[in-house]
Formats: sequence, C-alpha cells, structure tokens
Amino acid sequence: MNPAAATSITPELLAKALSLGRAAARDGRPASYIPELACADPAAVGIATCDANGEVLTAGDAHVSFTLQSVSKVFALACVLRSHDAELWQHVSMEPSGDAFHSIVRLEEEHGRPRNPLINAGAIVVSDRLHGEDPQGRIAGFRQFLCAASGQACTEERFALNERVYRSECRTGFRNRALANYMRHFAVVSDPETAIDTYFRQCSLEVTAAELARVGLLFAAGGTDPATGRRLLACSASRKVVALMATCGLYDEVGRFAVEVGLPAKSGVSGAILAIVPGRYSIACYGPALGERGNSLAGMAMLKALSGDLGLSVFGE
Ligand code: DON
Repeated sequence: MNPAAATSITPELLAKALSLGRAAARDGRPASYIPELACADPAAVGIATCDANGEVLTAGDAHVSFTLQSVSKVFALACVLRSHDAELWQHVSMEPSGDAFHSIVRLEEEHGRPRNPLINAGAIVVSDRLHGEDPQGRIAGFRQFLCAASGQACTEERFALNERVYRSECRTGFRNRALANYMRHFAVVSDPETAIDTYFRQCSLEVTAAELARVGLLFAAGGTDPATGRRLLACSASRKVVALMATCGLYDEVGRFAVEVGLPAKSGVSGAILAIVPGRYSIACYGPALGERGNSLAGMAMLKALSGDLGLSVFGE
C-alpha cells in the first residue's frame, strides 16, 4: 500500500486530471473516417465519476453530448448475455485480438468467428442477437436497458439517436458491412442488414460523460444499480463484460493501458472511455482528440492520473 495515496475521488483530483487531459489532447485529432465525428471540438475534455452510492462528480466538458460508438458494445453485450449467454460464445471467442478494432484479417483464418465481442466483428454478432423485430425495435429495447441502468425513466431525449452521425456512418461503413456479410457466409450472423443497421444505430446514441458514468455503475456494482437496488444483469454476466473490458477493451492498446492505468475500460472513436473500478467507481472520460490507435488521448491521461493518485490499478501499485 502507498500510504501517501488519497483514498477517494475529490474535486481537486478531478481538476488535476482534467488539466493533464487538456494538455494530452493537443497531440491528437478527432476521428474522420466517419465524417460527422470530425466536427467535434478537439479541445473538448470532460470527466465524470460515479461512486457506489450513485453520487456523480464532474469536471470540464462532462455535460457535452457525444455518441457512444464502441462504448455501446459493452452495454449491448450485457443485454445479449441476459438471453443468449451460451449460444453467443459458440460463435465469438473471448481472446484479445491484438489487431485494430475494424480488422478483418483473422476472420478468414478463424472461419468467421470473431476473437472477442468488443472488436467490430464481434460487436456486430452481438447486435445480430439484440432482441427485437427490426433495428428500430432493437434500439428501443436497448435504450430501455440504458435508462434502467441510469436509474431514470426513459424519455425521448435520453440516449437519443444522433441522426447526423448515424447517417454519416451508414454512408461510409463499407468495412463493417463487409465484416457482417463475411460472417453471414459462416452463419455466425443471421441477418447482416439488420445487424449492421442495429450496430450503426447503437453507436450513434448520445450520452454525456456524467450520464455515462452513472450508467456504467452497473458494471462496477456487479450487475445491480446500487441506487435503486435493481438487478439488471446476472453477477456472472457483469463479470464477463468487465473481464473482457480489461483484456480487449482498448484493442491493440490494451497492454499499455493495463500498465499505465490498470483498469477494465472501453473506448469509443467519439473520444469516450468508460473505466470500471470494481466495487467502487465508474469513470467516464470524454476527449475527441484521438491517438494513433483510435483511443482518446485526454481520456487515457486523465485515467492514468486518477489511477496513480488513488492507487486504483487492479494490478497493484
Ligand atoms: O464501427 C465503427 O467503426 C464505429 N461505429 C465504432 C468504432 C469505435 O468506436 C472503435 N473504438 N475506439
């Protein structure tokens, strides 16, 4: 134990992390392969933490909306594990890929079976299994799940679809369509059109860092919402999602992130990172300036600072 380490997150620690995040953001830039994402303010940086009582602390641009992008993958996985746990793992592995999030190269070698459910190929398999007749119905159910996890009633504004981002990805998502169609050949995906449209929509749902920290508490609390006492997910399902975040959540940067931060986390190309401190906190970062591997530079810097100051790494101090 480091006796000098602070014991809980304070506004001062968040302010310190924020200034390190702002400095780190200067070296990156927003994603542009989905053209609408390039409109984000590269200097925006925000952080929000939620403790086990549901208490949220924020600093910086924590109330600015962004789209969930790949952070949606952990919530979609949670939804699907409620009904398809055994069946899903027949088609998706649980191993880190070491490849970029949109890589297609291993799919041929591994007969259409994605390495894990957090790379795009695996997430499309998950979207194919979300409950609902059509993409709109599936997303309605998915939003209900997010609202339940946030402890709030579902309104039209909450986790709303960002139409511009959705249309931008529909226009440019040829690589994801290729993944879905390729997996259809191996019967890993049943309906590529529906799976892809569902996936594009779930990636385009809007959230703020403050909201994301609150929803992510579900994973810090082993599948319940501690504020309402409601169980939304089996404990074993929550453990699977968090373990996959730790091993696969930052794709080909997961090793460095484990060394520097040491927390299960999931990133998204909008600049989001959701990190989990099991049993204690959910931490959501926003900073659209990305590094070379497509992860938020500000998010990584802020999490490194907080983890160091509080001795949060699950791998030790
Ligand atoms: O499928 C895509 O490329 C995006 N909708 C999501 C990718 C993403 O967020 C990768 N994460 N860092």
